[in-house]
Amino acid sequence: MASLEGRTALVTGASQGIGRACAIALARAGAKVALAARNEAKLSEVAAEIAAAGGTAQAFALDLASEESIKAAAKAAVAHFGSVEILVNNAGITKDTLLLRMKRADWDAVITTNLTGTFLLTQALISSMMKARWGRIINISSVVGETGQAGQANYAASKAGLIGFTKSVARELASRGITANAVAPGYIETAMTAVLDEKQREAMLGRIPLARPGTDEDIAAAVRFLASDEASYITGHVLDVNGGMYMG
Ligand SMILES: NC(=O)c1ccc[n+]([C@@H]2O[C@H](COP(=O)([O-])OP(=O)(O)OC[C@H]3O[C@@H](n4cnc5c(N)ncnc54)[C@H](O)[C@@H]3O)[C@@H](O)[C@H]2O)c1
Repeated sequence: MASLEGRTALVTGASQGIGRACAIALARAGAKVALAARNEAKLSEVAAEIAAAGGTAQAFALDLASEESIKAAAKAAVAHFGSVEILVNNAGITKDTLLLRMKRADWDAVITTNLTGTFLLTQALISSMMKARWGRIINISSVVGETGQAGQANYAASKAGLIGFTKSVARELASRGITANAVAPGYIETAMTAVLDEKQREAMLGRIPLARPGTDEDIAAAVRFLASDEASYITGHVLDVNGGMYMG
């Protein structure tokens, strides 16, 4: 496993699920980790877990729906650790409903958190990466950003938007030693997918050639790789981690 010793990572939505698994994997590889989400108590538990395993982590309150909060969290993390060179834009929400019934508020909430929040936080942290002449931006998109999904027009638009954002940022920042990539998870068993009923779960599994749901560790392994020097020649890529559900 490539070492991330000497690097600092900020992971959004690190209190649970995929974000938590990414934070733990990056810390295991030697990075110091800024854990960011709304629930500071849950973040502190993850920080304690990382510290108990010999790693370094610190919790920072962050609400991606608030520009003020995003700027404050970025500033606090850089002040605490000296710099942040790895950014994992993981946090995301769903507000699923069919297009005909979708309220403007459902659309705005998902686009604001998933897409605008990622834009603002990335913007707030690129100067730290530019100073280091090294950086890794990893955006957690979704298979539905590539395929579309009935009932998820807002969510799929936000996740497809992240792919365009990733590729543009990759082109803009390549000369600075900064890469930007997206990871597109398929069906991963977390709180987000626990709302699916048995019928929906079966239907989902039927579309997965590897015939199992993914785990948050499957995603964390891809993120850790993209954050490492082993991935230094990969930028603007969308890495599908979906058991073959969609082959781009
Ligand atoms: N689980 C899946 O099958 C799956 C599939 C594809 C993509 N994804 C994406 O992976 C990411 C993580 O998903 P998960 O399954 O771990 O979900 P989850 O619901 O368990 O975790 C989401 C995290 O985002 C945080 N968050 C939500 N709104 C926030 C806000 N306004 N400000 C700060 N933090 C906020 C939550 O606190 C939580 O830590 C999401 O972007 C999701 O869209 C998940």
